[in-house]
Amino acid sequence: MGETDNRYHREIIRPATLKLLNPQSGEQIHDVACGNGNFSRFMSRSGVKVTALDYSSKMIEFAKERCKEQLDMIDFHVADATKFDELIKLKADKPFDKAVSNMAVMDIVDVEPLFRAVNDMLAPGGIFVFSGVHPCFQTPNMLKIIELSDYTCDTCDNYLRLRIQTYEYIQPKMHEVTALSQNGKRVLHFHRPLSMIMDICFKSGFVLDGMEEPVFAKPDNAVEFDWYEIPPSIILRIKKLIR
Ligand SMILES: C[S@@+](CC[C@H](N)C(=O)[O-])C[C@H]1O[C@@H](n2cnc3c(N)ncnc32)[C@H](O)[C@@H]1O
Repeated sequence: MGETDNRYHREIIRPATLKLLNPQSGEQIHDVACGNGNFSRFMSRSGVKVTALDYSSKMIEFAKERCKEQLDMIDFHVADATKFDELIKLKADKPFDKAVSNMAVMDIVDVEPLFRAVNDMLAPGGIFVFSGVHPCFQTPNMLKIIELSDYTCDTCDNYLRLRIQTYEYIQPKMHEVTALSQNGKRVLHFHRPLSMIMDICFKSGFVLDGMEEPVFAKPDNAVEFDWYEIPPSIILRIKKLIR
């Protein structure tokens, strides 16, 4: 993500997350699995007080380094989102107004403690906006398919058709993926069907309150696969029920 984040974050994740989260100056927002802190930094610049966590101490070191100008606005912690007790320790005197977690649910081996803890730490009616790879389309072993007509053929229409073939949707599954095509490193993802993710949210005391499925703008000269018509990520907003 570096200093200036990446295209995926800028064009897919950030606009949809901002639309659903609508962070406001003076709010106290919890950033779960904050990575190098790019979104915490972004929110803090508009006056948001951020409590951010990641289980990687190395990532938190990078985050503190990259956010050294904003450390009066951001509290960074090393904490494991699979451990309810570790999360709940981050509870401040006053409940959080909102919580956010960008592109991390599919990286977390067990998300049930996280949703329960976030619910516990939010003010009544507080929202949690989270994103991950789209579980309907980026399924384990899915294939990206490019159909390109032969432009030398004068009887066929010129077209580029981008498809995907999905497999293995309904069962939760751990699988290996290349997270960033630029560096080719393999990471583990924990695929969960949408119904399972929503069930965890509902059982933790949330209702579904908003949803975005952004895609990239398609250039006229597109010749390669990209996510123009099929959303690569889903961004969900859930709201704490007032009991
Ligand atoms: C794809 S990165 C996203 C980082 C950041 N939210 C962003 O958008 O740049 C996923 C992050 O989840 C963190 N992570 C994975 N499992 C975790 C866990 N159990 N507890 C806390 N953080 C975790 C990783 O260390 C990594 O920083």
